[in-house]
Amino acid sequence: MLELTTLIGSGRERDVFLHPGRDDRIIKIMKPEATVDRNAVESWFLARAKRPRGAVTIPALHGWVETDRGPGLVYQHIRDEGGTTSRSLTQLVNEGILEEKLLKAAFEMAIASLRENAFLIYDPRPDNILMMKADRAGGRRLVLVDGFGPNVVAPRAMVRMLVPPLARRKIDSVRARAHAEWYAS
Ligand SMILES: Nc1ncnc2c1ncn2[C@@H]1O[C@H](COP(=O)(O)OP(=O)(O)O)[C@@H](O)[C@H]1O
Ligand SMILES: [Mg+2]
Repeated sequence: MLELTTLIGSGRERDVFLHPGRDDRIIKIMKPEATVDRNAVESWFLARAKRPRGAVTIPALHGWVETDRGPGLVYQHIRDEGGTTSRSLTQLVNEGILEEKLLKAAFEMAIASLRENAFLIYDPRPDNILMMKADRAGGRRLVLVDGFGPNVVAPRAMVRMLVPPLARRKIDSVRARAHAEWYAS
């Protein structure tokens, strides 16, 4: 059983810890108050979906582990070229590094790319999108670390995964909502 000590991020539903044995992986633990087992939904979805290609990627999934905080889902640790954890679009805006205009441009690029891949999303808020500085030359990649797949495992989700136009329709409605809620100003 792994002992988790280093918290590197936290959202509404999960705590994210550094893998104690290797710094290229992180472990996501459900918060007790979460109503949906997000880890279970993601693991179900990623076992069936094709990884998106293009402007946005998602972290590689490395399965489940037992930890002192309950079952954890292991993912690739998204890091910049120097080794520090990549920051989210929200963090970059808060730190004055990214302008609102560029935030919106990054979001539009991310959605367009996921739409083309018919890769299901439900929550592309800016703290779920990390900007990875991939190389010394300044190359950057957007990585969606959360908010992909269906919101819950349901027949409708399975149909969307099998019928790309239906996935795209869903992505359009998610985009409209996210735009109004997170990228409006
Ligand atoms: N694979 C990852 N690599 C680096 N940081 C991550 C990774 N996944 C999540 N994070 C960080 O942890 C935060 C919370 O993770 P997230 O999966 O969004 O939790 P929640 O499901 O509770 O919203 C993210 O906003 C991000 O800053
Ligand atoms: Mg999140």
